[in-house]
Amino acid sequence: MTNKAAEIDELVARWVRPQIRQLSAYQVADAEGLIKLDAMENPYQWPEALREEWLDLLRKAEINRYPHPQAPGVKAGLRRTMAIPDGMPLVLGNGSDELIQMIAMTVAGPGRKVLSIEPSFVMYRMIATFLGMEYQGVALNPDFSLDITSLLSEIERTQPALIFLAYPNNPTGNLFAQDDLLRVIEAAPGLVVIDEAYAPFTDVSFVPKLGQYANLLVMRTVSKMGLAGLRLGLLTGPAAWINEIEKTRLPYNINVLTQISAEFSLNHQSVFDRQTAAIRQARDTLLGQLQCIDGIEPFASHANFILVRLAPGRADHVFHDLRQCGVLVKNMHGSHPLLADCLRVTVGTPEENSAFLAAFRP
Ligand SMILES: Cc1ncc(COP(=O)(O)O)c(C=O)c1O
Repeated sequence: MTNKAAEIDELVARWVRPQIRQLSAYQVADAEGLIKLDAMENPYQWPEALREEWLDLLRKAEINRYPHPQAPGVKAGLRRTMAIPDGMPLVLGNGSDELIQMIAMTVAGPGRKVLSIEPSFVMYRMIATFLGMEYQGVALNPDFSLDITSLLSEIERTQPALIFLAYPNNPTGNLFAQDDLLRVIEAAPGLVVIDEAYAPFTDVSFVPKLGQYANLLVMRTVSKMGLAGLRLGLLTGPAAWINEIEKTRLPYNINVLTQISAEFSLNHQSVFDRQTAAIRQARDTLLGQLQCIDGIEPFASHANFILVRLAPGRADHVFHDLRQCGVLVKNMHGSHPLLADCLRVTVGTPEENSAFLAAFRP
């Protein structure tokens, strides 16, 4: 190693916080040339006529200017299509990932804690770590339901500033009992954020409960319904909370192209509704097909993916074999004890799902 390289390593070791050095960066697999069933994307493009209309708008985009700081057109579209009640303001994020960070920054401080359940979306823990907050994960029951006794006692013990609950949960795909979630909201001393990233694939929501609880916020994203490339998420709830969180938002975080594209596409919500309805149907078909395969355990899902448990020791092999056959899924084995031997497959088009099944040798 050259002297300069050693000097750099020394400085990095001295100054980068140990919590950051110990982290691994969020991994995104290379999907080049593969059928991409790893990231809960909507597999469908837009009809050609709609693309043309959209491109006409983009041609006029003033990318020499900063975007509108508040993105009012985007907010109006989200409010309308997601039935956000009047009086509940929105704050927008560059994906809901950024909102998780903004919420955590708003409440971070010495001794402040973030709590979530495990296994769940990994960014809750990662962002708590970025901000030097203590993170407490409470394991789900083996059937992925909430262990409400442990959860309530951990809330009592740790007094978390912030609780994230994904509903439906990723990577398990299930919904928790509403009554249990209400007990958590009532017991929590701080904020409870219900993360409804998979709302397009289920019929239940906490949006109608907004305002009934002083500590309840709901987070959504447009990623899973078909706009993952735009990077746009929203958080809503009582104004007093949203106004504080809004202060942590970086200026112009929703860029010009995203604003134009989101506003346009939310005016064509029926296209997404048809696509997500097709994905739901394909999910149920795929689940039925997986249930017919001996020796594996597919878990029922209210999202656009299915978690499957394979025979002990098979997950790595099956993951690599699928990849060899051109199909990329997510290998969950090793990420949490409750996910031993599990793969997570995103629901694609019927053709993609058939290709997955043809290559799947559990
Ligand atoms: C539960 C949950 N919340 C949030 C996200 C992030 O969504 P976004 O694309 O809006 O950052 C994901 C992505 O997988 C997720 O599973």
